[in-house]
Amino acid sequence: MSVLIRNGRVVTAADDYVADIFVDGERISLIGQTLDIAADKVVDASGRYVLPGCVDPHTHLDMPFGGTVTIDDVESGQTAAAFGGTTCHVDFVIQGKGQSFGEALEAWHAKREGKAVIDNGYHMAVTDLAEGGTLEELATLPDQGVTSYKLFMAYKGALMVDDETLFRTMEVAAETGALVMVHAENGDAIDVLVKQALATGNTAPHYHALTRPPELEGEATNRAIQLARIAGSPLYVVHVSCKESVDPIAVAREKGWDVHGETCTQYFFVDYTFLERPDFEGAKWVYTPPPRAKENQDVLWAAVRNDVLSVISTDHCAFTWQGQKTMGADDFSKIPNGGPGLEDRLHMIHEFGVRQGRISLNRMVELLATNPAKLFGLYPRKGTIAVGSDADLVIFDPEKRHTISAATQHSRSDYNLYEGTEVTGAVETVFLRGQTLVEGGELVARPGVGQFVRRARFGEQLSPAPAAV
Ligand code: URP
Ligand code: ZN
Ligand code: ZN
Repeated sequence: MSVLIRNGRVVTAADDYVADIFVDGERISLIGQTLDIAADKVVDASGRYVLPGCVDPHTHLDMPFGGTVTIDDVESGQTAAAFGGTTCHVDFVIQGKGQSFGEALEAWHAKREGKAVIDNGYHMAVTDLAEGGTLEELATLPDQGVTSYKLFMAYKGALMVDDETLFRTMEVAAETGALVMVHAENGDAIDVLVKQALATGNTAPHYHALTRPPELEGEATNRAIQLARIAGSPLYVVHVSCKESVDPIAVAREKGWDVHGETCTQYFFVDYTFLERPDFEGAKWVYTPPPRAKENQDVLWAAVRNDVLSVISTDHCAFTWQGQKTMGADDFSKIPNGGPGLEDRLHMIHEFGVRQGRISLNRMVELLATNPAKLFGLYPRKGTIAVGSDADLVIFDPEKRHTISAATQHSRSDYNLYEGTEVTGAVETVFLRGQTLVEGGELVARPGVGQFVRRARFGEQLSPAPAAV
């Protein structure tokens, strides 16, 4: 199967030019002006952007969490991703207590069997080095293409690890070339604050934020940075939400330490006051770290502009409001933490980042596709438009207006974080390795089309997959 995309405005992290793209099989084989070449499918992309398929390095599909399981499985979550222009994501395998890493990885591979709509890789969330996986086993994961280890410094009694586990994992990463990712919040202090709030009858959703103050995110961020320096491992801080966490990352990067940071779409748009909405509506925005005071939003825009933060992810961890969030109707600590967003990232960042002049179009591509691909061992196969790269391509109509809503989304969640937001610019057609995935408002490829991607080690490049014979 070959595809010729004619006359589109090709935008990468570095370039912006009008060209034709010829795709032969799964990869881009030629880019040029007025290509005189026959193809099975010809698409006229005049007046449209042609973007690399976006890469989301932070998602939670079919994940047991907070006494329930996230509502989007691989099929619904990846379908939402596809409609939002995301063609590859990296999901978190969660090591269960007492479970080996191999067992955990096998369980996550089973979740995607026959359901995958886009490509994905896995991070390994380390939760138990005492009775579950060993350091020796952890060291073998990069050979299986799992080249990042995630540690939760919060969620005491559930996913949280102590500093010894964090530090030992960092030491393994320094040896194996894996990237260490941290959820940076001081889980012990949060646990005390949550107990105190509940003991005084403070049970409403906004206490989720009041018991997780930004200082505790800043403290944990700095602790992880200093521990990674001693261990000699690279560090990636996920879902940075506030100035208190941006500042230590800025210092680390200024000094040239191997520290990287991500924020998520929601932190630019949702602030603390959303949690105070009446009739339990605030629970829709109970995710962690919590929505912060509004002034943090400008701090985050500056940080993504200045490359203090290098990635915008979604942290898609969807639950329904009715039935799942309501588990915490009488106790905010029982509201499952997380929100949907896989479908909305490109549309929201294009509207409020690019169209409203906060970041350039090239920087948007860098934050949503190129940098996540580079940091997570997917580049240059993913994250750019170049000869030899996978033909993961998004044709984006920059003039089409639409309204973001749960009524039209593909996530199974019953609400949308940005309900009613009007944006100009819409994903029109999506290709995954040369196959048409989304066209005319429909998913046209069958589940099963997505592949597991064995990622390269941190700092290494991922060569194109060998051609199918
Ligand atoms: O609330 C969130 N973010 N849920 C997903 C788990 C995590 O901390 O990333
Ligand atoms: Zn987290
Ligand atoms: Zn997360």
